[in-house]
Amino acid sequence: MYHDFNYEATLASSLKGAWQLDDVLRSDQDLDFSRNFMPESLARTAALTSLSADEQRTLNQISAHQYLTIFGVVEEFILPFLVDHARPHLLGDDWRVRAILNFASEEAKHIHLFKRFHAAFVRGFPVECQMIGPSDAIGAEVLRHDPLSVGLLILMIEWMTQGHYLGSIRDDGDLDPLFKSLMRNHWIEEAQHAKLDTLIVDALAEGRSEEEIERALDGFFEIGAFLDKGLEAQAGFNLDALEKVIGRKLDDREAILAQQHQAARWTYIGSGMVHERVKATLEAISPRAAARVAEAAPLFA
Ligand SMILES: [Fe+2]
Ligand SMILES: [Fe+2]
Repeated sequence: MYHDFNYEATLASSLKGAWQLDDVLRSDQDLDFSRNFMPESLARTAALTSLSADEQRTLNQISAHQYLTIFGVVEEFILPFLVDHARPHLLGDDWRVRAILNFASEEAKHIHLFKRFHAAFVRGFPVECQMIGPSDAIGAEVLRHDPLSVGLLILMIEWMTQGHYLGSIRDDGDLDPLFKSLMRNHWIEEAQHAKLDTLIVDALAEGRSEEEIERALDGFFEIGAFLDKGLEAQAGFNLDALEKVIGRKLDDREAILAQQHQAARWTYIGSGMVHERVKATLEAISPRAAARVAEAAPLFA
């Protein structure tokens, strides 16, 4: 076995580490708009030398608005996926049933928390930032695929949050402390989710032929391409918001758009594709699938 995850231990860790919304952000707390919200390794806004320092910070904050929005969207399809996955086996293994329902409940809490942060963002930011959606239409498009395709995508998303916090957020002292706390608390609970996703993918892949796994991977790439189109559209909305705040059109808008789209590709897709745990799961279910993902990964770097 390539891991030692199990439902009982994961549930125990989840119950021990659980937090309440007010531990992370009370509804009357405000974000500090004099600071960056996102680590540079994800936002890549300090690299835009045609922008002043203030403009870079504004775009960094818009990139954080995107983070809230994108995670809102993905957690809204993770929730029904989990409920559907649990439903046929409610009378089976008690640890499994409780671990998956607890996972679903935490994801509902995260949706709630991201909305609370979004409200705080809207209160403090001078213009409206448009977002892709509606989220239920995005969710329906994702969920029409084979559950193994969706399971692999969710596996990647949950491990990538581990990379986001561990790789860049923990050591970045310059961020708004409330945003940092969001990332940290999300990371704590997602650590258990990612293990459960591994068990879910193992179960969904069990007994499938190499050909069936290949087809599920085709579905995974289809969803990835669909989400990538959404990220490109979102990058455009982000620059619209930036232009409104700074009161001028960007001369090099096309170049900034491409650079910011690439930053989002890395944040929401690429950083999951190259995560060691994702690679290990792919290797275990099909080395051919692992090779296909490794081949595509540089596009999202
Ligand atoms: Fe979450
Ligand atoms: Fe999660």
